[in-house]
Amino acid sequence: MNTSRSARPRRLLAAFCAGITAVAALLIAGTTAAHAADTPLRDLAAAHGMVMGTAVTGSKLTGTYGDLAGAQFSALTPGNAMKWGSVEPTQGSFNWAEADQIVAFAQAHDQQVRGHTLVWHSQNPSWLTNGTWTSAQLSTLLQNHISTEVGRYQGKIAAWDVVNEPFNEDGTYRSTLWYDGLGADYIANALTWARAADPAAKLYINDYNVEGVNAKSTALYDLVRSLKARGVPIDGVGLQAHLILGQVPATLQQNIQRFADLGVDVAITELDVRMALPADSAKLAQQAADYRAVTAACVAVARCVNLTVWGFTDSDSWVDSTFPGYGAATPYDADYAPKPAYYAISEGLGGGTTTPPTGACTATYAVSSQWGSGFTGQVTVSCAGASLSSWNAHWTFGAGQQLTQAWNATCTQSGTAVSCANASYNGSVPDGGSVSFGFNGTWSGSNPVPAVTFAS
Ligand code: XIL
Repeated sequence: MNTSRSARPRRLLAAFCAGITAVAALLIAGTTAAHAADTPLRDLAAAHGMVMGTAVTGSKLTGTYGDLAGAQFSALTPGNAMKWGSVEPTQGSFNWAEADQIVAFAQAHDQQVRGHTLVWHSQNPSWLTNGTWTSAQLSTLLQNHISTEVGRYQGKIAAWDVVNEPFNEDGTYRSTLWYDGLGADYIANALTWARAADPAAKLYINDYNVEGVNAKSTALYDLVRSLKARGVPIDGVGLQAHLILGQVPATLQQNIQRFADLGVDVAITELDVRMALPADSAKLAQQAADYRAVTAACVAVARCVNLTVWGFTDSDSWVDSTFPGYGAATPYDADYAPKPAYYAISEGLGGGTTTPPTGACTATYAVSSQWGSGFTGQVTVSCAGASLSSWNAHWTFGAGQQLTQAWNATCTQSGTAVSCANASYNGSVPDGGSVSFGFNGTWSGSNPVPAVTFAS
């Protein structure tokens, strides 16, 4: 561990020297060097017993991309390199080059590797998807694939996304090569084979749209409970968290908690927050609130052990090509400058001193519980390097929410605009201190987390 800490400044120096030959590289190195003064996200996460991860592309792990990947993150997920179609494009002929490179980079930077992914309906080689297989053949193919890949990296992978995206939105099993050919037990068998190939790796089921409490996440919950009851090896669930601006599910923390209460770990495995392009300062502020809310929900649950972004720079994100018209989904812009979302993750992890000079007191909004048509929310005003003698927090309820009651603040709602002023006894927020107030409200349809601004 100490090796990597002392190695980090050396890498920055190398990047800086390399930049002397090119103006553009010098500017980038300058950005990195200034930014390196902040406490890295990986160190902030470690203080909570969490790892901070990012998906990466192996070929990009040099220069500023490599510097940031190594300095800020304590876990790497190969974005594509470990998928079946990448590692065995022709049957029996393997290509491990990019996966090996990412594992080597991670080891050199004292990082975990999250293996992604062994059993999926997508990005499989065409020889597999175009073949005609009996179920016995299919089962053997899958077992061999898992044994070969997990075995190759045995002892080097902290956690595997063994099964990816097994459910439909309504909670039924997705019709795939695996489900159709092998039945639902392909999941239990895959987990069992993975455990046999690397007993130390944590084994996960990973899916999207399972961040809040809903039919799909409840199907995942029921599956994990039944796997545990049957003694099938399952260590965690991955919540991908490919989110849309302003749509962090209000029940995220509650959902993480219910999985934790089943006795499994939870990882946020593929976090990004996409917005309609072009980005503007209001959208970037909402995105920061969204990243902060997801970070806070993970920090709040001890078994939420990993917060991974699906690419850390807007120049290495799947969003632009997958969701036309959307983008700017990651914490760094395409030129590696940290965005408000970066600072929001940092603050969510307890790094109070990295806020850009827009104000050293911030307000964080969280839904603490939600039921039928009602919910309870909490806003915390925190100050670092500044203090307040009075405050007024503002936000917009964009989805028809209506405030019904507040405590420890005087709140009013006019249309969609909510304004909450301090009570007589809690206007003062000292440097390094915080003040919270709570409220009840009603909602229907959705209850997204708004961005809170405040004035003293
Ligand atoms: C994406 C990659 O980021 C893209 O480069 C690729 O073209 C498609 O797959 N859920 C997952 C990831 O589990 O593997 C996907 O990654 C994004 C959605």
